[in-house]
Amino acid sequence: MQSPLAGQKAIVTGASSGIGRAVAIAMGRAGADVLVNFVSSPDAAEQVARQIRASGSKAIVYKADVSNESEVAEMFAHARAEFGTVDILVANAGLQQDAAFTEMTLAQWNKVISVNLGGQFLCAREAVKEFRRRGVVANVSKAAGKIICMSSVHQVIPWGGHVNYAASKGGIDLLMRSLAQEVAPERIRVNSIAPGAIRTPINRDAWETPEAYKRLMTLIPYGRIGEPEDIGKAAVWLASDESDYVVGTTLFVDGGMTLYPGFSDNG
Ligand code: BGC
Repeated sequence: MQSPLAGQKAIVTGASSGIGRAVAIAMGRAGADVLVNFVSSPDAAEQVARQIRASGSKAIVYKADVSNESEVAEMFAHARAEFGTVDILVANAGLQQDAAFTEMTLAQWNKVISVNLGGQFLCAREAVKEFRRRGVVANVSKAAGKIICMSSVHQVIPWGGHVNYAASKGGIDLLMRSLAQEVAPERIRVNSIAPGAIRTPINRDAWETPEAYKRLMTLIPYGRIGEPEDIGKAAVWLASDESDYVVGTTLFVDGGMTLYPGFSDNG
């Protein structure tokens, strides 16, 4: 299918860099008009929007902090005003504030939980309201709307030194599945993508030098780091009618990281 998302409107949060950027560009290429949300890099967001426009779709940039209730509500109102509706939410915005457990401040804990988990709650809540208001539109999508939560392999793999981040991703799993159960009868599909190590700024230390990359490869059976485009393709599929019967699932896109390769010659 050439334009599996033709005629659809997407909001991608945290879309000025990394995975969000690749997802926004992939959605635009797949035919969706995209609201490119950012919080601190307007120029980078505008660049993403330009790439989307070059592929023939509409794109608008919008600054909002996903952990701020009124900013999220205004972002959805803006998308409605510009695009008429929203068909797809990719709740992607997230961050890390790493610290050894006893060094971790309450501020670091709260920041990561409120952006990574609270932000997905706030965005998904607005999305569900809009999907419910509009319902299923024939010839646009079989579903009334699709939500893709950006999780992580760390929704299942414990991660010392990152308990705030791992807790936020573990929380996303049951946020996603509980919400999926609640709204599936309204033909709203909620799913997650759990990326492994993807080449983005968030984990630069893990891949930038040959030594770091070699060490990282001991965690990845498939033998390469993930590229942001790997996640973009998965997101397009999960948002399209090609995955219409996929409801409440986490799609791991991780080169086998969750196969626990340390056990291949041990245990
Ligand atoms: C983290 C990255 C990490 C990857 C695999 C992601 O969720 O944000 O920093 O490299 O998981 O451990």
